[in-house]
Amino acid sequence: MRSLQDEPVALVTGSSSGFGLLICIELALRGFVVIAGIRRMETAGKVLETAEQAGVHTRIRTVQLDVTQDSDVKQAAAYIKDQFGRLDVLVNNAGTAYGGFIEEVPAEVWLEQMNTNFHGMVRMTQAVLPLMRERRKGRIIQMSSISGRIGFPGYGPYASSKFAVEGFSECLALETEPFGIDVVIVEPGAYGTPIWEKGFTQMSTTSGLPYQAMLDKVLAFSQKSAQQGGDPREVARLVAHIACLKRPAFRYALPRSTRLTIRAKAALPGRLFQKIMASVLGRS
Ligand SMILES: NC(=O)c1ccc[n+]([C@@H]2O[C@H](COP(=O)([O-])OP(=O)(O)OC[C@H]3O[C@@H](n4cnc5c(N)ncnc54)[C@H](OP(=O)(O)O)[C@@H]3O)[C@@H](O)[C@H]2O)c1
Repeated sequence: MRSLQDEPVALVTGSSSGFGLLICIELALRGFVVIAGIRRMETAGKVLETAEQAGVHTRIRTVQLDVTQDSDVKQAAAYIKDQFGRLDVLVNNAGTAYGGFIEEVPAEVWLEQMNTNFHGMVRMTQAVLPLMRERRKGRIIQMSSISGRIGFPGYGPYASSKFAVEGFSECLALETEPFGIDVVIVEPGAYGTPIWEKGFTQMSTTSGLPYQAMLDKVLAFSQKSAQQGGDPREVARLVAHIACLKRPAFRYALPRSTRLTIRAKAALPGRLFQKIMASVLGRS
């Protein structure tokens, strides 16, 4: 009889809510033992409750994991090595989204944004690579964004962090391919998860600076996009599907409007694409 020790193992960072929580459930439903990385352990109950409702709670373990903390990252990797001796899939999902106009965003916000979305992902990847490399097997799924491909006014900190994730992932894919480790980037458009309430609604502009009119348009556009965004479960299902594929592609963008926008950027001259983006924003 197969025991849980024989099942494929996945680690998902940022599992307390949104995509991360849903990805844990979808992976467990597909037969993975899932290590749910959680920054604030008081939210672990919600993860286990959701897993119980889905009938997969026996497949979920929770670990304390703030990706900005070296000690948490190292302990989580050591726990996985010790308990399972394997890690088949890492989903680098943890993230925050800070907005603001570049002239106004304070240095500490830039640092915090990069520390979570970029350096946190680097830390986690470095910590698990030895285990994957030794087994010559592994898959690293990077939660990027349409903001990792297209810059938008008011999205400076967030887009910069996701563009960094994209560059890192291109290098990583070439470095790890000889060791049987593949890297996949997922680029969702706007979906209605809690992320927008945490960062973007705090976006403000200093009185006296001429950004107010554009800020109003950006906030209206972002709120509309998030409200109209699809069901976050389609992103979670895609990630779980990628985890199971024999030969996944390198990039997946969703929904269709995101794919079309990314294709338009690649096909059009840069200035023309900027004009189109500005006119879309002007209509918000
Ligand atoms: N929603 C969208 O429209 C969208 C679109 C494209 C890409 N994404 C990306 O999808 C990922 C998940 O976001 P989401 O939309 O599902 O938002 P979410 O519900 O806010 O989830 C973000 C998760 O990351 C965790 N987190 C934040 N800082 C962390 C840290 N330092 N260490 C560990 N975990 C941390 C959060 O934990 P706490 O509960 O403790 O805050 C939460 O569990 C992010 O990388 C985001 O950039 C989202």
